[in-house]
Amino acid sequence: MQFSFIAFFCALFRIVVALPMLPDSLSIRHTTDWMRSQVSEIWNFPNGTWVESLAVRGNGQILTTILSSSQVYQVDPSKKTPATLVHTFESFRGCLGIVELQPDIFYVVVGNVTSQVFPDTAGSFTVWELDMRKFVPGRAPATVTKKATFPQSVFLNGITTINPFSSSILLIADSGAGAVWSLDTSTGRIAKASSDPRLAPTNGTRPLGVNGVKVHQGTLFFTNFNQQIFASADIGPQGDLQSPAKILATELDGVDDFQLDVHGDAFFTGNDQLRYYRFGGNNVSVLSRDPLLEGSTAVQFGRRPSDSRSLYVSTFGPIEQYESGTRAGPGRIVRVDLTVSKGQRVVFR
Ligand SMILES: *[C@@H]1O[C@H](CO)[C@@H](O)[C@H](O)[C@H]1NC(C)=O
Ligand SMILES: *[C@@H]1O[C@H](CO)[C@@H](O)[C@H](O)[C@H]1NC(C)=O
Ligand SMILES: *[C@@H]1O[C@H](CO)[C@@H](O)[C@H](O)[C@H]1NC(C)=O
Ligand SMILES: *[C@@H]1O[C@H](CO)[C@@H](O)[C@H](O)[C@H]1NC(C)=O
Repeated sequence: MQFSFIAFFCALFRIVVALPMLPDSLSIRHTTDWMRSQVSEIWNFPNGTWVESLAVRGNGQILTTILSSSQVYQVDPSKKTPATLVHTFESFRGCLGIVELQPDIFYVVVGNVTSQVFPDTAGSFTVWELDMRKFVPGRAPATVTKKATFPQSVFLNGITTINPFSSSILLIADSGAGAVWSLDTSTGRIAKASSDPRLAPTNGTRPLGVNGVKVHQGTLFFTNFNQQIFASADIGPQGDLQSPAKILATELDGVDDFQLDVHGDAFFTGNDQLRYYRFGGNNVSVLSRDPLLEGSTAVQFGRRPSDSRSLYVSTFGPIEQYESGTRAGPGRIVRVDLTVSKGQRVVFR
């Protein structure tokens, strides 16, 4: 009990110090043994909808990308209004990663990948700017601009900023090539920023290497689906790797995308789980395992006062439905609330 109080106040102190830097992040500093999670559904899409990624707007609304159609939807975390279509990328088959670079300006990976055929059309991948500043559901559209094509890419997937709001550089995981591309959004210049054995796919049938990518204090963190690892490497200002990648955790079966908090602690999706890695540690523990998390693909923190202690997760539901062509379950946006020691919530903004 004594220890839990000390840990509680340490956590409070750390987040107070960190608050001015990254207001949309969260911190969990407790032993995961104490954690309990509650998982609830925010929105379910029709059966067979592969919900691939998500980003949370400054106003708290969730933008979510669909892999089984080339669409972006807005989902209301308060559940008061139904999901609204934001945009359809005509003549593409699927949407993948999404990230906010400038306030309410997002970048989306779009390509001819499908959930049945894998990988599909190498070289079809593009990154689009989705400017949400004037968007009003049903009245005013988002402003959508193609920023770059990647003719040499194999299968673009996760996308991240190097430094949101102050760098124009985006990094994009190429799961098929085992590489990370950079895109300078101010010039449109693309470059293959990095390749490393730890980024590579290792399965000839389902070649999926580097998957999620995030940057924390000049270090690139990434997951590799085939290698089942979480790893990191130092990067330069253009996103180029400046050290060999270092493995931080192994045996991450089915790992997909992840999110980092202010301290570099990581929350991973994949399978029916939400898993957690404490910065500086060398293993991962399961925070939550729940049927609602089946086919979890990406995770983000809430940004409103009422959900600052919550994580939102996108899911594709039962994987078998994409192989069999039956429609056996919905893709979802779910919310995970974490609590600790006798109902005391742990997450602080
Ligand atoms: C994607 O595939 C469709 C056909 O399914 C095709 O019409 C379109 O040109 C392709 N787009 C790209 C960018 O390759
Ligand atoms: C490669 O991926 C396929 C399809 O997901 C899977 O059936 C197979 O077991 C994987 N092979 C290895 C060696 O991981
Ligand atoms: C793994 O994590 C658990 C729970 O967080 C912790 O108790 C254990 O010491 C860790 N093991 C290693 C090898 O770091
Ligand atoms: C959708 O999937 C659920 C199982 O999650 C099933 O009960 C339902 O019948 C399916 N609906 C349709 C229209 O296929």
